[in-house]
Amino acid sequence: MTTWLNDPTFVAGILTGAAATVILLITISAYFLLSRDNYGLDHWKLNVQAPLTETMWMNLGYWEFSSKFIEACDAYVRLVLRTADIIGNQGSDQPIAILDIGIGCGDQTRTIIGCIDTLTVPPKFLSYVGITINQAQLRVASQKYQTPRALTKRTTLDSFHLVCADASKPHNWPEEVKSAVGKFKEYEKPTRKWLLASDCLYHFSPSRKPIWQYAARNLGMNFMGSDLCLSKTATWRETMLARLIGVLMGCPWKAFLMEEEYWEQLVACGYERDSIIIKDVSEHVFPGLVAFLERQDKVLAESGISLGGGFRLARRVFGWFATSKAVRAVTVVAKVVKND
Ligand SMILES: C[S@@+](CC[C@H](N)C(=O)[O-])C[C@H]1O[C@@H](n2cnc3c(N)ncnc32)[C@H](O)[C@@H]1O
Repeated sequence: MTTWLNDPTFVAGILTGAAATVILLITISAYFLLSRDNYGLDHWKLNVQAPLTETMWMNLGYWEFSSKFIEACDAYVRLVLRTADIIGNQGSDQPIAILDIGIGCGDQTRTIIGCIDTLTVPPKFLSYVGITINQAQLRVASQKYQTPRALTKRTTLDSFHLVCADASKPHNWPEEVKSAVGKFKEYEKPTRKWLLASDCLYHFSPSRKPIWQYAARNLGMNFMGSDLCLSKTATWRETMLARLIGVLMGCPWKAFLMEEEYWEQLVACGYERDSIIIKDVSEHVFPGLVAFLERQDKVLAESGISLGGGFRLARRVFGWFATSKAVRAVTVVAKVVKND
């Protein structure tokens, strides 16, 4: 039986057509390659040095005194330390123990120890445990502090540990974490003991309560941190939208609490009602962050880099927080109830 494949004229036609298509594509590509300028700004890739950046901050930042991301992030942590009265005075030689949760890549570790170290009267010793839930972040943080003693010139580091664990579930911590944190129990008074949470508690699932209770009741620790709260003026619609945004940010549905609920939860977990300070600092947080994200998007675009959909969405979300005032950035300090 004769088919069209046995027809030499037909096969030759197909091959000629395919060859012509390939030649046409090569000609068009060559035309575009030759007609464009080869020297734009792409060669930035050849000029960068690894690691690309020394710091890996990722908090909301406190922008009152700087428009630079690194400085704003550092300032946000300092603001908390100042609110808790750890810096801003001449200091005291009483030892300090800090359980620092949600440390990201550990940049705040340097800020905290550096601040304490430069007090006029430094503490006799400092004990520090930093926790992040993310293994990659722990790796970056640990690489920075392979010789932790270099972090301080004047204060004795009694112990220093960076560990990976879910700080929202202290009762499930592995032995390594329990024993690092357990050391805090042994410290005699008047050691100043603090739980520090910089811009991370809204992620804690099911809630902030287990870590607050554990820190207050098991370790006798005061609390200081920066966090997000729901405004008491937020309408039902704004509350629902804020909660939905929270879920998209990886937070539990009830992550954003009103100030009064926040207050009550702290008291229920073992903190002294009259000692609690919740300070709204949104004015110097959201607008600065939004302006920075806009600038960074433009700067990166000049080198052909995209800021990425996630950060663009974040810019919109923080822009909405700033204009609606439905979600507030706060600093919080609470002293543990004294049992003696
Ligand atoms: C917005 S970032 C802030 C990072 C850091 N505090 C800073 O100022 O750069 C939130 C951090 O909390 C950490 N985190 C979230 N949930 C956590 C949990 N359950 N336990 C420990 N860390 C957690 C995240 O991995 C991230 O490092």
